[in-house]
Amino acid sequence: MRNIVPTQTTAWKNLKKHFQDMQNIHLNDLFRKDKYRFKNFSFFIKDKLLVDISKNRITYTTLKILLSLAQDMHLSEAIQQMFSGKKINCTEDRAVLHTALRNDYHNPIILDGNDIMPEIYAVLKKIKFFSNQVINGQWKGYSGKKITTVVNIGIGGSDLGPSMVTKALKAYKNHLDIKFVSNIDSTELFHLFKIIDFETTIFLISSKTFTTQETIVNAETIKKAFFKKAGCTKHMNQHFFAITMNTNKAKDFGIISDNIFKIWDWVGGRYSIWSAMGLSIALAVGFKNFKELLNGAYAMDMHFKNTTFEKNIPVLLGLIGIWYNNFFYSETEAIFPYDQYLNRFPAYIQQSNMESNGKNVDRNGNTVSWQTGPIIWGEVGTNGQHSFYQLLHQGTKLIPCDFIAPILSHNSIQDHHEILLSNFFAQTHALAFGKSFYNDSSCFFSDIKSVDSAFIQKFKCFLGNRPSNTLLFKKIDPYSLGLLIALYEHKIFTQGVIFNIFSFDQWGVELGKNISNSIYNTLTNKKYELDYDNSTQGLLNFYNSVRHAK
Ligand code: F6P
Repeated sequence: MRNIVPTQTTAWKNLKKHFQDMQNIHLNDLFRKDKYRFKNFSFFIKDKLLVDISKNRITYTTLKILLSLAQDMHLSEAIQQMFSGKKINCTEDRAVLHTALRNDYHNPIILDGNDIMPEIYAVLKKIKFFSNQVINGQWKGYSGKKITTVVNIGIGGSDLGPSMVTKALKAYKNHLDIKFVSNIDSTELFHLFKIIDFETTIFLISSKTFTTQETIVNAETIKKAFFKKAGCTKHMNQHFFAITMNTNKAKDFGIISDNIFKIWDWVGGRYSIWSAMGLSIALAVGFKNFKELLNGAYAMDMHFKNTTFEKNIPVLLGLIGIWYNNFFYSETEAIFPYDQYLNRFPAYIQQSNMESNGKNVDRNGNTVSWQTGPIIWGEVGTNGQHSFYQLLHQGTKLIPCDFIAPILSHNSIQDHHEILLSNFFAQTHALAFGKSFYNDSSCFFSDIKSVDSAFIQKFKCFLGNRPSNTLLFKKIDPYSLGLLIALYEHKIFTQGVIFNIFSFDQWGVELGKNISNSIYNTLTNKKYELDYDNSTQGLLNFYNSVRHAK
């Protein structure tokens, strides 16, 4: 990866100047002047996905300069490097090859002199074989009964992706009950133990490192409870599986080789659903649908890799995000799926984006003087409309939004879906164009009455000019979901390249983990390891006085 300070590029300087011209331009004017704006600013992936970027505060000139920024930062070269397995995760000396996991088997990918595709396909075959066995009822529990329940034990990327996708693809679900345990909070296990039957449950310990505290402690507790019920350690072989790159640790835990599904160091945790980390997905919806998810992601990979930047959807979305983040200084980006099945999608993208691009040191090792990754948040529509949309419409902050919806519902009842989508279309319109009594001709939905006093009219004005992207696809199916997830992955990649940061490490999660280990010793009264600051000390004292009160 190159080392270029983005703020020193010609494009960045031009964008700064251009921002002066653009900051007061209203979307109303941009649309009024250009009747082809939608046509020119919307992009398709076959008949699968439409992405409309026309409701952004951009002109053709804005895009031209943003595209020159991509050029100045050598984005094309970075994309080639990622796909070809160059070790672009420099702080961990690793390649970044989640794209290989959905690659066509016949396109070799060479890493350290070896083609990694045969190994990937061997694991895929194993996923296929095992998931079929469980779904068909051939895989039996220790007492000879068929498996009815799957529990995925994992956290972060080893939980968010599989749980988001199994929820999103509920319409494709089979009879297996898939549960997720992530938090170390014993409340999760307390309730799980009440409902599962160990004789018919399998446990997937999903941890790339097999050292993550939450996952390993939860897995150990489950193992103990299992032994108590099953009475014999050898029964573990029918019930415990590991998905990990740390096969030795998995074996130490007691998992036999046949029950280990391998992943590799070149798969980032938050990019791992395409690997065996997606085993719970294959179990939930069948291998064929899991493969369709990979196929959708592969189609987006080919689009990202081979399409000129002028029409490259992840590149354009990444650049537009930078326009708001680094020139308008908007701090956050919101994601609003108008589909109940996608209700965990914002949380999933929150991890992949914020853990990737939440960095303050550039590729030179210098503290950055520009903004890096935005705060990502969101909620399913229309629920959000009755919560925080007030601030989106009339607050003082500029919050660029992505509105995502399927045209067809899996569960059409009367006209619910039409009502849902009416809201979806209405919101992007209202955000962009607003409503002003004083400029009423721009608005055809005026409920501002001329009888309102001038004072009241002020409260009923909507300034508009609030940007959004609209992403419309036909239906939530495995293929479209794969397309959508990979689109966001590549958007994040694009932004990381331009921020000149390393997007594929996550050192920022380490400090809290280390301190928590030391505090654990204090809480369990083993010893005082550190002289804490007086706030932490005061809190610990209060904890102790309540916890150990007679
Ligand atoms: O929170 C840090 C992190 O390393 C994430 O990147 C990762 O997804 C999660 O923990 C779980 O890690 P593992 O799969 O190794 O248990």
